[in-house]
Amino acid sequence: MTEPTEYQFSEGASQTPDRIRAFFALVPEDSVRLQFLALARDVARRSRGRSISGEHVHLTLAFLGDVPVESLGRLRAIGDAMPQVGAPLAFDTLGAWRASGVAWVAPSVLPPTLAALHAGLHTALIEGGFALESRPFRPHVTLARRCVQPHPRQQSAPIHWSVRRMCLIGSELRAEGPVHTTLGEWALGMPA
Ligand code: 2AM
Repeated sequence: MTEPTEYQFSEGASQTPDRIRAFFALVPEDSVRLQFLALARDVARRSRGRSISGEHVHLTLAFLGDVPVESLGRLRAIGDAMPQVGAPLAFDTLGAWRASGVAWVAPSVLPPTLAALHAGLHTALIEGGFALESRPFRPHVTLARRCVQPHPRQQSAPIHWSVRRMCLIGSELRAEGPVHTTLGEWALGMPA
């Protein structure tokens, strides 16, 4: 694991929180992040929704919900034990979940290394006693929320992302929106 950013408690918090909302995700480098962001702004405008903000571009691998802060060490150890292999991904499909008003972009093909990373993470987390949803894995990057006119599923010009980074992220819900903190970070190599 590369050096994680220590979890910073919010300024002005009167008490040290003992739980944190956390998830494992793939996070792109800046050049790719900006491409998702440009698409997010366009999709949000067309679907009359709210674009994600710049620091929120990610692909969720495992959503943990609120976990005790003292379990972060165990979560980092689980991240350390995962195969540190990423893959090239082409995000070529736009879609939306009408019920939740979420617009997303997804790869039409999931490389085996990333399917294995997702499966390995889920197995290790469940064995470690963490509660996970049993929903099928639908890899996607959320682009916009609260979409009033979600667009139908369609092919789009692909965004090419060579996935080289997995993070454990803490999400603090504030009035102005969620604030993400990197709690753990792993560099992923490309498959042979
Ligand atoms: P997303 O992956 O579709 O964007 C932090 O909340 C992240 O975890 C979000 O990016 C969110 O959705 C993802 N996530 C997955 N399952 C979730 C759940 N049940 N509740 C909230 N967020 C969830």
